[in-house]
Amino acid sequence: MIITIVGGGSTFTPGIVKSIALRREELEVDEIRLFDLDKERQEKVAVVVKWILDEDLKSGIKLTVTTDVETAYKDADFVFAQMRVGKYAMREQDEKIPLRHGCVGQETCGCGGLAYGMRTIFPMMKVIDDTEKYAKPTCWILNYSNPASIVSEACRRLRPDARIINICDMPIAIIDVVAAAMEIKDKENIVYDYYGLNHFGWFTSIEYKGKDIMDPLRKYIKEHEILLPDAYLKDKAALNVTAENGKDRHAKGSWYYVWKGIYEIMENFPDTLPNTYLNYYLQQKEFVEHSNPDYTRANEVMDSREKNLFDGIDKYLKTGEIDEKVFYAGSHGDWIADLAIALKNDTKRRFLVITENRGAIPNLPYDAMVEVPAYVGKNGPEVITQNNIPLFQQGLIMQQLNCEKLLVEGCIEGSYQKVLEAFTLNKTVPSMKVAKEILDDMIEANKEYWPELK
Ligand code: NAD
Ligand code: G6P
Ligand code: MN
Repeated sequence: MIITIVGGGSTFTPGIVKSIALRREELEVDEIRLFDLDKERQEKVAVVVKWILDEDLKSGIKLTVTTDVETAYKDADFVFAQMRVGKYAMREQDEKIPLRHGCVGQETCGCGGLAYGMRTIFPMMKVIDDTEKYAKPTCWILNYSNPASIVSEACRRLRPDARIINICDMPIAIIDVVAAAMEIKDKENIVYDYYGLNHFGWFTSIEYKGKDIMDPLRKYIKEHEILLPDAYLKDKAALNVTAENGKDRHAKGSWYYVWKGIYEIMENFPDTLPNTYLNYYLQQKEFVEHSNPDYTRANEVMDSREKNLFDGIDKYLKTGEIDEKVFYAGSHGDWIADLAIALKNDTKRRFLVITENRGAIPNLPYDAMVEVPAYVGKNGPEVITQNNIPLFQQGLIMQQLNCEKLLVEGCIEGSYQKVLEAFTLNKTVPSMKVAKEILDDMIEANKEYWPELK
């Protein structure tokens, strides 16, 4: 049993490997392979991965580290993809270019997300093709690579038969925070309903051991004026990004604003719990106001998560000592490893997945890539059907959905017109003129990565 991690040099690789290795009996995993285009970065990350497998967990799992496609994919049972095309340098551009034009600068939302999407579509098709060429015919690709919404639409359009499931860790990170706020220790007993697009959705119910907790949660958020447990705010120095380490990365630095934003959104729309990412669409003006156009989330990550990991590896190489806080372990890795267990062992466990709607939400298009709950077994996700969604959410979703569809079409066809339509349609953009200015700057910045637009 072989698991290949594409984007082996990712800051999330050690955490994912730890989650896999902790589940080695259920997964029956013999070998983990790391594949990346950046040899040097991946080899550094592999140092800590080897420590986890051999020293920390004494797992007996073989590690292969490669930049060769055939060595990476040959006979793989699972491919976990988590590549960042253009790396943090391009994430910085995705965030800073729109801000220069007074618009939301975010890696997966608004114009930044569209730009990141244009870079990732074709490399993702290569992952699918390489998997189909070399891996076992039964191999599943589980994809975290962002922007997951646009990537999944591109998969649907270009490789409709691929065995790929696109996933996101934000809803479970929100559930982690909800559990902490509600003082629930056994979060596996929380069951929720959810609908939307990736990074664009709502929780409609949350139950703990069969009891509704939406009501107490609503009260908590109103009282605290934020959805973050006190412990996160006091002891862990929210807003102080350099204090970031360990499991609570979603509560640090500029992330603070989106948890505050949940309170602000629910003051107006209290029925559902919004995904944190809806802040960028519902509070676009306020987001720009509290952003620093010279120091965005990309800078925070480079100065904290990335720096802590690589400094930690250097220290280990010099002293032989490792502090586990230099890498992330927890929900992010657990989610993808548990999904693999569900597929392999046919557990029919409930997950949120990004999948073609096919009528699951009756008043959204049949071919929309939606994020919804599903029971996952050996044949993939069995989606749970839902009711019609309210007009407000449906309207917001349709605007975002058509924006993303146009972007994917524009990218495939090399059509400037369609990509401009996508930028203009995005809710974070105030006018056609601004859309065009941002797009033209993005074309310049992404020369190395984007297909030519005519
Ligand atoms: P990172 O920059 O640390 O790691 C990404 C790695 O991908 C780099 O080592 C880079 O060299 C490699 N890479 C780039 N292009 C590649 C290609 N074509 N083939 C193989 N490798 C390639 O980034 P990170 O912050 O650790 O995030 C990794 C990815 O995971 C990003 O796409 C990020 O958006 C995504 N992510 C998604 C979720 C989710 O909810 N879906 C959650 C967390 C992270
Ligand atoms: C959440 C989202 C991911 C995104 C990440 C960014 O986990 O679900 O899709 O990649 O946040 O976090 P970062 O710490 O890199 O800003
Ligand atoms: Mn996500």
